[in-house]
Amino acid sequence: MSIKQVIASRKTSKVLAKSPLEADLDRALLESLVNAAAYAPFHYMAANHHREKLPDKAPEPWRIYILDRSICREVRKWLIGRNDKTKIPEMLAAADMLLQITWCPTVEDGAAESNPFGGFDATQTNMEHIAATSAAIQNIILVATEQEIPSYWSSGGALRDKEAFELLNIPHDEILLGAVLFFPKDVDQNRNVNVFPGKMRERRSFGRTWCRSVEKLNLGAESSTPTALKVDAIVRMGRNSKTPLKY
Ligand SMILES: Cc1cc2nc3c(=O)[nH]c(=O)nc-3n(C[C@H](O)[C@H](O)[C@H](O)COP(=O)(O)O)c2cc1C
Repeated sequence: MSIKQVIASRKTSKVLAKSPLEADLDRALLESLVNAAAYAPFHYMAANHHREKLPDKAPEPWRIYILDRSICREVRKWLIGRNDKTKIPEMLAAADMLLQITWCPTVEDGAAESNPFGGFDATQTNMEHIAATSAAIQNIILVATEQEIPSYWSSGGALRDKEAFELLNIPHDEILLGAVLFFPKDVDQNRNVNVFPGKMRERRSFGRTWCRSVEKLNLGAESSTPTALKVDAIVRMGRNSKTPLKY
């Protein structure tokens, strides 16, 4: 497939199974998908306290935690034990691999580090850390698509929570950007699963109304409304809350 064909054939496949599926893809192939993240663009280095946790103090602002099939099944049991009624346990019964992909927020005032689950600063640096981590995730998913491995980028539900971070030994000062699941090839042929598309799949416009050519400059205009948050007026974004907390 050409890169354009890979991009156009990428799609969300939410694969649900009531009981654990047999092994399908081999671990080495799955883990090799992660290599694609290494080529993602990134603009800023992760802050020192994140980098110092790695043996080579790598600068990238993302972190990837690989959960193989058997760990997926154990996390499924853990979630069931916690009475999780979402679809995640059923997805973990079907998945061959889960990648917990986090980004490393840069904290503008040291005090916030004591409560990393409280939120993150809405700075340009953090926006670009998230953007870089998204590019890393997309790289991985595109390579999976090329290999015809079904995938699903999820916000994570309970897998975002402190308890899940503790279970998986993920540092509390990172934030989950994607719980990315990979399923057996040709899983849609398996009678023991249900496969659902992404809910926005059919809503995609292809209209390009989100794109326009700039043909004339508005040279005389004086902007009275700021379009971007300035770093000197830091806003702390809650992880889930819709109202930013100003400080
Ligand atoms: C950052 C991000 C988080 C997502 N989280 C979820 C999620 O939690 N639940 C879900 O059903 N889909 C989630 N999706 C997948 C979208 O629903 C999906 O991309 C969309 O429906 C378009 O379908 P497609 O990926 O097949 O083109 C997420 C996608 C992105 C980029």
